[in-house]
Amino acid sequence: MNHKALKSALSHFEQKDGQLLVNGHLVAEIAEEYSTPLYIYDSSFLSGRHKMLRKMLPQDLEITYAVKANPNAQVLRILGKLYDGVDIASRGEMVKALKVGIPAQQMSFTGPGKSSAELEYAIKLGIGSISVENEREIEHIRTICEQNDLSANILIRVNPDFELARSGMKMGGGPKQFGIDSEKVPALVSSLKNAKRTRLRGIHIFSGSQNLVADAIVETFEKIIDYACSLSATTQIPLDIVNLGGGFGIPYYFNDSDLDLSAVGAGLRQVLANAKKNLPGTRFKIELGRYIVGESGMYVGKILYRKESRGEIFIIIDGGLHHHLAASGNFGQKMVHRPMPITIANALDNPIEKVNVVGALCTPLDTFGTNVELPRAKEGDLVVVLNSGAYGFSASPLGFLSHNPPKEVVL
Ligand SMILES: Cc1ncc(COP(=O)(O)O)c(C=O)c1O
Repeated sequence: MNHKALKSALSHFEQKDGQLLVNGHLVAEIAEEYSTPLYIYDSSFLSGRHKMLRKMLPQDLEITYAVKANPNAQVLRILGKLYDGVDIASRGEMVKALKVGIPAQQMSFTGPGKSSAELEYAIKLGIGSISVENEREIEHIRTICEQNDLSANILIRVNPDFELARSGMKMGGGPKQFGIDSEKVPALVSSLKNAKRTRLRGIHIFSGSQNLVADAIVETFEKIIDYACSLSATTQIPLDIVNLGGGFGIPYYFNDSDLDLSAVGAGLRQVLANAKKNLPGTRFKIELGRYIVGESGMYVGKILYRKESRGEIFIIIDGGLHHHLAASGNFGQKMVHRPMPITIANALDNPIEKVNVVGALCTPLDTFGTNVELPRAKEGDLVVVLNSGAYGFSASPLGFLSHNPPKEVVL
């Protein structure tokens, strides 16, 4: 098999007699029990990935989970216990995290458009920190705190003058809706020096997502730390927290290789050792979504029809882009290339043929793969899209065409 991403995705699961298993259960049996279409998440992957991150990354680096990647309650309950906290991006995510027992103090709140109502909710519940993304937001926080006789910990989300090189989605550098431009930050930090209601705790830079190049990630961390050191030196303000972002990617496209986590860890160890000379009391953290959950999950659809049209085979499944937008290439092709790793869960070893894999919706956008190499499959067989644990269910237009939503099962 030449498909590197598919090989990597399959390596996280057991196979037996041409059948795919999740945590000891045949996918075919899970599909029978819960019916298709459905998402399956593997809890043993989640704990294994946590172990690997803890082993490879510096011990004193805090690792938090970005809930937006997968807010499923069972997944969140597991990850809330494993990681050092969660990053939330809305009141809704905060409610979900609270419901599974994650304390508000372990949450950070990020996003360019937080409403006053959301901020008030988070502040009243004692959220750990709010990453502010514009100056008006700070005024809102101050007003809310004064009205309620409270205070809030804030980080300044900085829009740096660099971007995370070679990443699928760039969220820093140039004019951006995210964060406050780095050149404006020193004056802002000085103005917040003695503010009691808005306690400035540090900075936060998240400059890109889906990056598979260890050197690019380490280089970005280095630039963030250089920026933090010079900010602290010019403003004479200690930074309790520096959130370095993350952007660790997973392989989607056939030539993608796994991120070299040990190289990221070694680079980061070096960078943090240097940083501690200038920022001795600072806590460093990263926030990851896709790398923590992406490879734990798969989307399973049953083949309704195997149709021939002018010499091509169309495999039509009972799901589609309304359940899994990313697999159709419409979530941002630069980030998640189509075709994602796809195979037939109950016929892994069948001879390979080239087919088009499409969903049930009446739009040509609903295509998971054109001319993809798939084990030969028949009606009733199970198409499985691997690496679907992040930005799947919750990042899809579930109401489109009014089909039932897919089930989600955590095993
Ligand atoms: C502020 C912030 N943190 C964390 C993430 C998670 O990114 P990823 O899932 O690529 O790790 C994102 C993704 O957009 C983000 O915007």
